[in-house]
Amino acid sequence: MSTATDAPLSLARYVLPVYRPRALVLERGQGARLWDDAGREYVDLSAGIAVCGLGHNDPDLVAALVEQAGKLWHTSNVFYSAPPLQLAAELVEASGFATRTFLCNSGAEANEAAIKLVRKWAAAQGRSPDRRVIVTCRGSFHGRTLATVTATAQPKYQAGYEPLPGGFRYVDFNDIAQLEAAMAGGDVAAVMLEPVQGEGGVMPAADGYLASVRALCDRHEALLVLDEIQCGMGRTGTLFAFQQDGATPDIVTLAKALGGGFPIGALLAGPKVSDAMQFGDHGTTFGGNPLAAAVARVALRKIASKQIAENVVRQSRALRDGLAALDAELGLFSEVRGRGLMLGAVLRPEYAGQATAILDRAAQHGLLLLQAGPDVLRFVPALNITDADIAEGLARLRAALVEHLAAR
Ligand SMILES: Cc1ncc(COP(=O)(O)O)c(C=O)c1O
Repeated sequence: MSTATDAPLSLARYVLPVYRPRALVLERGQGARLWDDAGREYVDLSAGIAVCGLGHNDPDLVAALVEQAGKLWHTSNVFYSAPPLQLAAELVEASGFATRTFLCNSGAEANEAAIKLVRKWAAAQGRSPDRRVIVTCRGSFHGRTLATVTATAQPKYQAGYEPLPGGFRYVDFNDIAQLEAAMAGGDVAAVMLEPVQGEGGVMPAADGYLASVRALCDRHEALLVLDEIQCGMGRTGTLFAFQQDGATPDIVTLAKALGGGFPIGALLAGPKVSDAMQFGDHGTTFGGNPLAAAVARVALRKIASKQIAENVVRQSRALRDGLAALDAELGLFSEVRGRGLMLGAVLRPEYAGQATAILDRAAQHGLLLLQAGPDVLRFVPALNITDADIAEGLARLRAALVEHLAAR
C-alpha cells in the first residue's frame, strides 16, 4: 500500500492512463512561471491549455476565491445565490448578442447543452428528428462526452466508442461550397464550429468564412453555434473571437479561461433560442455554483479590459517575430498561424510528427509548451504575459530546437 510520503510520480499507476503527462510534478506558479517539486523553474507558454488566461496565482482571482470560500460554496439550483446571477447578467451584457446564460462545469458540458438546445429548438419548430442534423467541421474538437465526441469530426477521438449518436454531418473547415451542399437538403438545424480550431492544429476561420456560414444558416433556417471554449475569453485579441468576423451567432459556448483555472463552463443563448428550454429540460448539480461564479466574474472583468486586449496584440507580435527569427535561423516551420495569443507553428514536412519530441526537449530546457496534433507547436500563454517572459520563453525554445536538430 502506498502512502502520502511516496514520491508523487510513483502514484501515477493509480490513475486511469488516458493522459501521458511529462514526468514532472508541478507545485506552484506565479504569472507565466511555474516551479516543480524539485524547485526547477519553467516559463509557461501553455497556460494549462489556454485556461489560466491571467497566469498563475493572480491576486484578484485568489482574493475572490478566498472571500467566497468563507461565505458560501454551493446552494444547488433549487435556491438562488448572487454570484451566478451576476455572472449570467455580465456575460449577456459582454456578449452583445445573448439574452440568457446557462452555467455548467466544463467545455464538453457547455457543448452538450448547446447540442441539446439545438434539438429542443428544432423540435419546437415541428421538425422531425431526421431534420435536426448538426453540421460540424473536420479537425474540430468539441469535447469527450458521447455527443460532443461525435460532434468532434476527428476519427481518432471516436474510435472504439461506437455506436455514436446520430444526427451529425461533417464538412471541411473553411470550405463554404461543401457546407452549402451539406445544407441543401433542408434537414440541417445548426452549424457548429470553432472560429479558430484549437486541438485540430490552430486553424483560424478564413476571412469572410463565418459571415458566409451565417448567411447560409439564415437561408436554411439553421442556427449558428460557435464553440469559443479555447479561442474565446480574450485569447484572439477581442473578448469573443466572433467579434472579428462580422457574424452574429445564436449560441456561444465558453469554458477554459472563463474561470481562470477554476472549473466553469457557460452557454450563451441568443433571442431565437433562449426560451427553447424550459423548467426541467436541462440541469447540472454543480453548474454555476457561487464559488466558481465569484471567480469567473473577476476573470471576466479583468480579461475584458483594454490592457489585456493591448497586451495580446503586443505579445502576439513579439511571439510571431520571435518564431520568424527562429525559423530564419533554423528552418523548422512552414507557417505560423492563428490569432492573438493562440498561435501554431507548423513543422516543415521533413520534421512532421516531431512535435512531441520537441516538447519533451523544451521541458528539459525549462519551457512548457503544447502541441496541436503531431506537427504543430501550439502557443497559448497567459494573456497578461510580460515582455521578459516571452523573450525568455523564446530563448529556451531556441536552445531546445538547436539541441533537437543536433540530435537528429
Ligand atoms: C474548442 C474546445 N471545445 C471543447 C473542449 C472541451 O472542453 P473540456 O475539456 O472542458 O470538456 C475543448 C477542450 O480542449 C476545446 O478546446
